[in-house]
Amino acid sequence: MVNQPVKGNSGPQDRNLVWQEQKVTYEDRCRVLGQKGGVFWLTGLSGSGKSTIAVECERRLNALGYKVYLLDGDNIRHGINSDLGFTDADRNENIRRIMHIAHLFADAGLITLVSFITPFAAMRREARDCIGEPFHEIYVKASLETCQERDPKGLYQKNISNFTGKDSAYEPPTCPELVLDTESLTVSQCADRLMGLVFRSCQL
Ligand code: ADX
Repeated sequence: MVNQPVKGNSGPQDRNLVWQEQKVTYEDRCRVLGQKGGVFWLTGLSGSGKSTIAVECERRLNALGYKVYLLDGDNIRHGINSDLGFTDADRNENIRRIMHIAHLFADAGLITLVSFITPFAAMRREARDCIGEPFHEIYVKASLETCQERDPKGLYQKNISNFTGKDSAYEPPTCPELVLDTESLTVSQCADRLMGLVFRSCQL
């Protein structure tokens, strides 16, 4: 899958970089793992239910013996992306790094669940273009009013600048592979639907 220069690396030849061919292919890895890799990218407002659904799916898939890993926005921002804030430029860089990490994880053969707000259509398009066929966009849908009422982390009631949905934009997906409306579906029903998509995509 990836065994070629990853798109987005600008001008590697100008930096004296030469792509190193490897002998183990994506298909070789999938055969050993008994599954295909995939990226299941959950996008939605803070409080929409992304992490709750992703955590439940990761638990279920792991229990069934699938090789799965969840990349979660809040957690990743504690480590590799701890230098980034919430300006548009920092969010773009946050997603750029995660897009490449998710691509590598999927290339390793893992079912990769990604839970980030990913507010801008252009960044989701870039992730789709970079990752290609294994990329699946899942819109975790809940209105701003509902998310503000839920406010599970108590963040909406704080006066945080550049907060998504308030003074920083959220551009809803127009053609995601799956919509999970968390105002009308339970966590378990959302997890069922996401599991269905994962099974269809990752069976060898
Ligand atoms: S993204 O916009 O770059 O995709 P990401 O998913 O990594 O965001 O991080 C969002 C999480 O950071 C939220 O769930 C929330 O806990 C926290 N957060 C802190 N400040 C903000 C902010 N200004 N806007 C949105 N979320 C914020």
